[in-house]
Order: sequence, then C-alpha cells, then structure tokens
Amino acid sequence: MVLHIRRYVGLGWKIFARPIISRLDSERSHDLALSTLSKFDRSLYGKSLLSGMYQSPELPLHVLGRLFHHPLGLAAGMDKGAKALSAWPALGFSWIEYGGVTRFPQDGNPKPRMFRANSEMALVNSMGFNNPGASSVRDSLVTRYASGNWPNVPVVANIGRSKKVNNEQAPLDYASTLDTLWNHADMFVLNVSSPNTPGLRDLQHEGLLTEVLGECAGIRNRYESHKPILLKVSPDCSDDQIMEISDIASRNGLDGIVATNTTITRPEPSNTQSRIAFSQNGGVSGRPLQKRSLEVISNLYEHSDGDMTIVGVGGIDSPDSAWKAITSGASLIQLYSALVFNGPGVTSSIVRGLKKKVSENGFSGISEAIGYAHRR
Ligand code: FNR
Repeated sequence: MVLHIRRYVGLGWKIFARPIISRLDSERSHDLALSTLSKFDRSLYGKSLLSGMYQSPELPLHVLGRLFHHPLGLAAGMDKGAKALSAWPALGFSWIEYGGVTRFPQDGNPKPRMFRANSEMALVNSMGFNNPGASSVRDSLVTRYASGNWPNVPVVANIGRSKKVNNEQAPLDYASTLDTLWNHADMFVLNVSSPNTPGLRDLQHEGLLTEVLGECAGIRNRYESHKPILLKVSPDCSDDQIMEISDIASRNGLDGIVATNTTITRPEPSNTQSRIAFSQNGGVSGRPLQKRSLEVISNLYEHSDGDMTIVGVGGIDSPDSAWKAITSGASLIQLYSALVFNGPGVTSSIVRGLKKKVSENGFSGISEAIGYAHRR
C-alpha cells in the first residue's frame, strides 16, 4: 500500500509538480516548498502522512557520539530559519542542519540570487546568508521545544559570519552566534567557505582561522555539555590548503570537516538556460560539484588515516553517488540540490539503495563501508 502511494506521489511529482516548479523563479519555488513544509511541521497528521510516503529504512550508525538512523541528512541553506525542523525527518532525513545563521539578522544579496541549470542538475546561488539572526532563531526554537515539536533526530546549527562585521571581528561574531544557539542544537558547523559573503573565504587562512576556532572553543569550554563542532570547507581551495585547514581544525579541537560548500568554478553550459545560470555570481551546487567533493573527501580521509570525521556533501543525488562519498571516507552525507531536481522521494530512494549495497557487499552495517575504497 505504502509502495503504491509512494509510486503515485512520485509520478505526480514528475508529471505535475516538477514542470511547474522548474518554470517558477528558483527562490520563489524554494519559499513555496518551505512554507508548505512548515505547515506539515505543525501538524501531527501532516507529518505522519509524509512519513507514510517518504520514510527511509533504518541503516543505523554512531557518529560523534550520536546515533543516526542512517547517514543522510539535510544540508545547510535549505531551512535557514529552522522553520520546518520537524518535517524533515518525515521526508526521510536522519539529521538536519539548519542555518546558516549569523549573529545579526540580514536580508542577503539583491534578488534574483538563485538560478537553475536543469540539464546539468545544478543550482547557482548568491543568497548571502539571508536569515532572521541568531536571537530570533533561538526564540523560535525555544517556542518549538516548549510546544513539544522538536525532532527526534540530531539537529545541527550552521553558523556564518555577519556581513556587517569585518574579518578582524569575525571570531567574536561566530562565538556570539555559537553561544546564542548552544542549547538549541546537538552539533555545530562553522561555515568559513561560502562564496557569497565578501572576504569570508579568507577566514580559511591560518591566522584568522585559528582565532575563529579559538574563540569558539572558548565558548564550548564554558558549557558542561561537550557538543561537536565541525568546519565546512570550500572545494575551490587547493588540496594542500584543505589539508592545512584540516590540520588547523584538529589542532584546535574541532571534531570534523564538512566537505564541501559550493564552488565558484563553472562547468561548460549545454544550453541557453544553463549559460544564463552559470554567468551569474555565486556558488554552483548539484551534479557538477560531485567529482570535486568526492576528491576532497577522499584526500581528507587519506590525510587523517581515517581519523577525521568527514561529512560528505556536494552532488549527492543517487545511491551510487552516496555510496561513493561514504566509501571515499564520509561518515555522514547530506544533500540540497537533489531535493530540487529529484523531488522529495530522493532521500528514501538513496537510503534504500545504500541498504542494498551494504548487503551486496556482505557488510554487517553501513559503518563498515566508511572509507572502504581506501582498503580495497
Ligand atoms: C547553500 N549552502 C550553504 N552552506 C552553508 O554552509 N551555509 C549556508 O547558509 C548555505 N546556503 C545555501 C543556499 C543555497 C540556495 C544552496 C543551493 C546551498 C551549501 C549547501 O549546504 C551544500 O554544501 C551545497 O549545496 C552542495 O550540496 P548539493 O546542493 O550539491 O547537495
């Protein structure tokens, strides 16, 4: 019966929703999807309807001291203000990263700032951390928690630098947001790699990075609960730079690396729509990012002898791409663009595919697959 409904909805997505959405302005269709999902978020019946259609199978693993039902989570940027937090697990995700959140509320860059290249299954965005600000996000999360509508999966907060502060003030800016959100997430990702905030990627250089990480470690030490903090890196850094960043992260007590953010490089456009999209400012996500993300995951795994926890993100849109990310060294994986191009069924179909691969390879669980490509 569930399979029947899933097939019916999947077909409905392909025939009706996708063509309409693909003609709508990208940001408007994102906002429409998020506001619809936030209605489901507030309704128990809505959530059980969604999970009836999209629930993923169990493929459990322990990472960073937490149990995950399976490795696939929602990437940052989709739910910046944590508006639909409890609805994402009903779409099959086993963990959720909300944000990027900045200390101060900000509108982001002028619109239009999100473009689709359908043939390449790629997005180009220059959002610029539009978000309600750390205090407002915290207040809405307090209300959510009090009303009993907190998801029962790990929740991660993605933190960015406020546009109005300069890089010298960045350590305090990140630390302040971390402090504000400390009690409202299980883990944190420091994003120093978005291409859409001027100067942000300079924070990946040793001096500034050490200051940002040091200030954030200071906040963590003030609390009794030890929560993991990870660093999100850019695919546009050279391999040497990425290894240096990962060493700095380890030296400063960080718990892992998220690889990767969007890229400022551009693939060859195959038609006019793609040419227009790729001529815009901003970062490319989706299929064209897959190869470089995979390389970064693999290099980081080798460099750390498998000791560094890696979250793989970038162009994951199928069981094959998810499997490659995990066997290259990612313990957890995430997606954003595939939700736009493949629809809401993509999560459960990837996890079902991963489960099949685990059993085809004779593994007792998904943990055995992490970094497997390096051991073969
Ligand atoms: C993002 N991404 C992102 N990352 C981050 O660390 N903080 C953020 O605020 C955002 N915002 C954001 C907005 C939009 C519109 C997109 C498309 C992406 C990057 C995202 O989390 C992810 O790293 C990339 O999109 C690559 O994954 P996919 O999309 O190829 O699965």
